Amino acid sequence: MSKPRVIVTRRWPEQVEAALAEPFDVQLNRDDKAMSPADLRDAFATYDAVFSTVTDRIDADVLSAAPLRARLIGNFGVGFNNIDIAAAKARDLVVTNTPDVLTDSTADLAMTLLLSVARRAGEGERHVRSGAWSGWRPTHMMGTEVTGKTLGIIGLGRIGQAVARRAHRGFRMRILFFDPFPPDEAVLQSLGAEPRATVEEVLGEADFVSVHAPATPENHHLINAERLKMMKPGAFLINSARGDIVDEAALCQALDAGTIAGAGLDVFEAEPRVSPGLLDRENVVLLPHLGSATRETRIAMGNKVLENAIAFFAGAAPPNRVA
Ligand code: DGY
Repeated sequence: MSKPRVIVTRRWPEQVEAALAEPFDVQLNRDDKAMSPADLRDAFATYDAVFSTVTDRIDADVLSAAPLRARLIGNFGVGFNNIDIAAAKARDLVVTNTPDVLTDSTADLAMTLLLSVARRAGEGERHVRSGAWSGWRPTHMMGTEVTGKTLGIIGLGRIGQAVARRAHRGFRMRILFFDPFPPDEAVLQSLGAEPRATVEEVLGEADFVSVHAPATPENHHLINAERLKMMKPGAFLINSARGDIVDEAALCQALDAGTIAGAGLDVFEAEPRVSPGLLDRENVVLLPHLGSATRETRIAMGNKVLENAIAFFAGAAPPNRVA
């Protein structure tokens, strides 16, 4: 029997690319150039599976390929808001993602942003590199203490819990959260996490707010101008989930007005474009969507796509089916 034909839309770590060749007739993307919508549409007409990622916008138009050959979208990422799930279902496509393996690396990165913005690490680094540093002095670049402060978590799923664990156990932070589907009591106890009934309640009490909600239509601009005004004046906003959960224009205005003290962002509304209003600010830390970017995690993510696809083509249920 011939092997299923699969296409990988971006470069993956070498060893996973090599592993793909065993069960599949694989087309790799050695140049790592993002595929155009027309190329993606062709891919759905030509291959049995498309291994996509967050930079591929798989909308109804891409999925209108006729005839459609693909039966599986193996998304390299836990988030799958790049895929129009209703359109995929309408064309009988199975969709899988890569949960769990990136929880720790993404939580580590959320803490990196939180610590960096509180302690002015980006600003300090730029200061040293520019040659402007004239030496230690008691009032130089004073930041904000993290230990013992209150962290508000919006979305206490896997990644939100991993952040809470680090913050509570490592930095003795008090943890508040909002989540319409909270974890069970035993988990909350182990994290020392206190529920709040609304996002607004969390915003009003937290010194740091970290967003870990999924990018659903309901969560679009969840953090908007009104809600930014509800944050404490010295508070910081951290977003390592998805860019469109925060209204970037409203955030720029809030930073200009001093409504909040700063922000740490790994994700943006129109990646890779970043609002100019953020680029020239010292009190924001900006990273290029690095949440899951460790060698270990990216290899594990690729292996998950592989595992899901092997199960699918063997006629079994893929472990991480989302549609
Ligand atoms: C994900 O998995 O959704 C990340 O944002 C990409 O690493």
